Amino acid sequence: MQKKILTIKSKKNKSKIICLTAYSKNTASIIDKHCDIILVGDSLGSVLYNFSSTKKVTLDMMIEHSKSVRMGVKKSLMVVDMPHNTYRNPKEALSNAKKIISKTKCDAIKLEGGKKVVQIIKTLIKNKIPVMGHLGVLPQSATNFKFKGKETAERKIILRDSKLLEEAGVFSIVLECVESSLAKEITKTVKVPTIGIGASAYCDGQVLVTDDLIGLNKIKARFVKRYSNIEKQINDAALKFKKDVVTSKFPTKKHSY
Ligand code: KIV
Repeated sequence: MQKKILTIKSKKNKSKIICLTAYSKNTASIIDKHCDIILVGDSLGSVLYNFSSTKKVTLDMMIEHSKSVRMGVKKSLMVVDMPHNTYRNPKEALSNAKKIISKTKCDAIKLEGGKKVVQIIKTLIKNKIPVMGHLGVLPQSATNFKFKGKETAERKIILRDSKLLEEAGVFSIVLECVESSLAKEITKTVKVPTIGIGASAYCDGQVLVTDDLIGLNKIKARFVKRYSNIEKQINDAALKFKKDVVTSKFPTKKHSY
């Protein structure tokens, strides 16, 4: 198993795992030193392309963005989301995962689901492709984005799925919008790290969409904490540029040939 994957697994019960998304080189190179994992998430569909869901994200979109991200990631483990309808059966999943890895040189892939994707995960792992699981709210198939784990039956299914994913060989599991005590139970039960987004501090690590964290994407979700306001900084810079051009303060001789 890759050294970086072993490092992520060894963090369980020792230190928190830091994961952020990136869709391009510049962002990736800034966050790389602070992250353990950089995820090229299919959230890029809604964040960058204004899609109403991640269902419209294509394999080519994921590959092109990942190629850019790869140039910025030096230290972190780079994980790429397999988009909707690219892993409907083991054969399709293997061919597309191989394509993602060979074209982007990423370290691992992530896919959504529980029992339904166990055979697919086993096939990928048998072919030496490291897999990150994803349970709870599954944006590629969700009909609503309500948190999971309120009802007993639903809790049982998610807990069972976490064990199935662990047995299938995933190296970690993203828990998206999972009720706190269920996230705690899963984290205690499985030996691989859980990475939460809206799934409480009980998880072994946390992931956020970087554009949400920096205030570039105007999402209003309970699980997002905004750590800076890049929108304001871009706005201020554009306004200053406009004023300088209008008043002929830019370009000066210094900026001319
Ligand atoms: O697509 C994505 O960015 C994700 C994270 C929110 C976990 O799957």
